[in-house]
Amino acid sequence: MKLFIVSVSVLLAFSCISSELVDKFSKCGDFFFNQKPPVIPGILEDSAAQENNYKTICQRYEQSVKYATLYNTTGKIPVFSAYKYTGIQKYKKLTKIPWMIESQLEPVGSGMHEPFVNQATTGDYYYDNKQNVSPGHLFPVCYAADRETAESTFTLTNSIPQRSILETGIWIDKEQEMKVIMDEYCRDEKKNNKILAYVLTGALPGSNILNKRVNIPSHKWMAFCCYNSTGKSWLSKAYWAENKIKNYEISQKSLEQLQTFLNETWGKQVKLFYNDCNFREQPSSVRSV
Ligand SMILES: *[C@@H]1O[C@H](CO)[C@@H](O)[C@H](O)[C@H]1NC(C)=O
Ligand SMILES: *[C@@H]1O[C@H](CO)[C@@H](O)[C@H](O)[C@H]1NC(C)=O
Ligand SMILES: *[C@@H]1O[C@H](CO)[C@@H](O)[C@H](O)[C@H]1NC(C)=O
Repeated sequence: MKLFIVSVSVLLAFSCISSELVDKFSKCGDFFFNQKPPVIPGILEDSAAQENNYKTICQRYEQSVKYATLYNTTGKIPVFSAYKYTGIQKYKKLTKIPWMIESQLEPVGSGMHEPFVNQATTGDYYYDNKQNVSPGHLFPVCYAADRETAESTFTLTNSIPQRSILETGIWIDKEQEMKVIMDEYCRDEKKNNKILAYVLTGALPGSNILNKRVNIPSHKWMAFCCYNSTGKSWLSKAYWAENKIKNYEISQKSLEQLQTFLNETWGKQVKLFYNDCNFREQPSSVRSV
């Protein structure tokens, strides 16, 4: 169950939309390349969280699941959100959308009021304004296919405390740069004219804490995997940036470079895409049709 939380005033308004905590990402639907979520040893293996402080969330909004998020209840920030980029349909521009929170993350019977023990809320940003951060999306609005999906990204489980480089700075240009590549080359290998890319956006925990509760990430990263229909080969690209106030140059990276960076930072052998985005197995159920 997702709840709308009205920004700043910390009032709660209840709504009837529901997302789900699940024991396995495979229940969310098809948001991962070859239906295989990333592998982060000890944290996420075999589509399931390996420790109690990590939650696999199917981000349901209105009638369907729009994306999937691995949430870290210790740092009260997501580890990553996984979604599909399928191009952008024309839709009426969003007006101010209130941030939502996730009632299923809280202990049963706790009552839905502040302070929430397992997640960040708008109150954390409101009460601690010295950190110069605001909530920023992992699955960004600018990659959402339609209005409903765009609205669904406004949940604090899809957000991290961001500084201006990620909010208004050069990161936004990089999202556009990646979008241009995906629009030009990424196609469903079965339906060749349909835009399709599997995208991951994640955060690395940092050493600063917002409102004595919420980790302020040191970095944000993103990567996509898709079929390059022009080259008839699998294609991946990656970026990462420090969560800073001042802009600096960010260069495009390979998937391998990002994995090396994540391996070093987490001290674990991370696998973001099945077979490093090299080919896709045809699921046997589909093959026989
Ligand atoms: C989860 O949050 C804790 C506390 O901020 C942090 O130490 C840990 O590294 C985080 N896990 C991941 C996978 O980022
Ligand atoms: C996709 O493949 C074409 C043909 O091989 C190639 O020219 C193009 O650079 C590839 N796209 C990207 C973004 O690498
Ligand atoms: C990171 O770990 C993955 C999974 O074991 C491994 O495939 C990859 O080579 C590692 N990356 C680097 C370049 O260290």
